[in-house]
Amino acid sequence: MSFDRAIKIAPSILAADFAAFGAECEAAEAQGADWIHVDVMDGHFVPNLTFGPAMCKALRPHIKGVMDVHLMIAPVDPSIDAFAEAGADVLTAHVEAGPHIHRTLQAIRGAGMRPGVALNPGTPAEAVRDVLDLTDLICVMTVNPGFGGQKFIDMGDKIRALRDMIGDREIHIEIDGGVDPKTAPLVAAAGADVLVAGSAVFKGGSAANPEPYGANIRAIRAAAESA
Ligand code: DX5
Ligand code: ZN
Repeated sequence: MSFDRAIKIAPSILAADFAAFGAECEAAEAQGADWIHVDVMDGHFVPNLTFGPAMCKALRPHIKGVMDVHLMIAPVDPSIDAFAEAGADVLTAHVEAGPHIHRTLQAIRGAGMRPGVALNPGTPAEAVRDVLDLTDLICVMTVNPGFGGQKFIDMGDKIRALRDMIGDREIHIEIDGGVDPKTAPLVAAAGADVLVAGSAVFKGGSAANPEPYGANIRAIRAAAESA
């Protein structure tokens, strides 16, 4: 994984066909996805339950590029090794998931993955200032995590504060929740480079009819790049 600040579109498979994840990942990549975003939820940290490391491991051969795993679980640390074995490239933990985000990020890097840290809408940018040197990605949630298809919450001030805080460090700013061609320019202009999109990518198509995915990805990218 090399670093750049070009816009990257990361379809969230939360909006894909759960009975066809492998084919959905392949279709999304073939249609222009840069990363594949995989939402792990535990029914405890967030009020929804998806899947765990066994599913990530099964998906790994179907993803050529970056597997971006977003953990919405607590605690995180007991599961880190399992996600490393599953082949996650980026492993993102929420700063709200426990009292020891510093230790968690160290452990993720120690297990050979890129550590990411996610911020709920109610958590300020300041919460990550002291872990910047331990992280490769900051995920700014623009919905309260747990479900796809929610309304975008404007976090422009937080994104700009993080972009300033990051300076020259090689840290991605990822936006997750309600990203579509209308909201993408706002977050790109504020300094984001990785745009997660579930409903806005997977709408209108299927693994057997993937062309709409391509059109959706191009529309989000074009809108972001025009910012
Ligand atoms: C929400 C998840 C998101 C979600 C985004 O908790 O972390 O990745 O799938 O879905 P959309 O793009 O539909 O808001
Ligand atoms: Zn996510």
